[in-house]
Amino acid sequence: MTATIERGSATAPVTAPKNAPTRKRSSGFLGSSNGKKVVMAVTGAVMVLFLVLHMLGNLKIFFGRDSFNEYAHALRTLLEPIAPYRTVLTILEIGLVASVVLHMWAAISLARRAGKARPVKYVAKKSQASGYTTHIMRFGGLTILLFVIWHLLDLTFGVVNPKGFDSAPADRMIAGFDASRWWVTLIYLVAVVMVGLHLRHGIWSAFQTLGWANRTRYKALKAGAGLVSAVLVIGFLAPPLAITFGVVK
Ligand code: HEM
Repeated sequence: MTATIERGSATAPVTAPKNAPTRKRSSGFLGSSNGKKVVMAVTGAVMVLFLVLHMLGNLKIFFGRDSFNEYAHALRTLLEPIAPYRTVLTILEIGLVASVVLHMWAAISLARRAGKARPVKYVAKKSQASGYTTHIMRFGGLTILLFVIWHLLDLTFGVVNPKGFDSAPADRMIAGFDASRWWVTLIYLVAVVMVGLHLRHGIWSAFQTLGWANRTRYKALKAGAGLVSAVLVIGFLAPPLAITFGVVK
């Protein structure tokens, strides 16, 4: 038996049902997922550059207190006398804060968008790896933010540092990681490992966003992301560990 189905005209206007939910879509490049991923990649690159320079600067502590203090002073007097004391550093700090804020904004809106696109959870659990990565990126990011707040109170403003604010940067650093304050070194250790894990995935994601991670370069780029992160973790942990274990006094 055959049945005939009555079809409407192909050019009939498509109207949404009266009470259908209206979805507000942000437009423009920054409103798109790709735009947000580019924001994440660019601000992430700014932060990686800061971290590399910061790590290299911290290693100056191995050349003595004076060497470290001179470096800290040089940061504050960049382009002097053309620019007044601390001008360039303040501009760099504003750029860094803007990068952190934009990076978090893009991360939160991408996560929200992913949640909205799939309001009903998958019945089958996600693979272990992707669940782990999401946790590392979200909670790791939050842990790093809390760590940076503690870190600034400790080594920049001296609020939680035994030497206080009116002291030389090297003295704050050496007193801060004294063996009696081993728990501070432990906090740094956990936080820096978090930074390393966050970076490894972040750098790799940036390569994918930029379209560099094709079949031939896949392995090399993944190894590269791991290597950059490992070098940063080792370089960052060397000064606190050397101070706590009495190698640097
Ligand atoms: C674990 C080893 C680390 C050590 C020994 C260290 C040391 C320092 C010191 C001594 C300062 C103050 C510099 C000055 O007053 O001239 C500083 C500032 C700072 N550190 Fe670290 N740091 C470490 C890791 C990190 C990490 C992993 C991050 C970020 C995730 C970070 C972010 C910052 C920021 C944002 C500032 C303020 C920069 C400024 O405004 O001048 N640090 N750090």
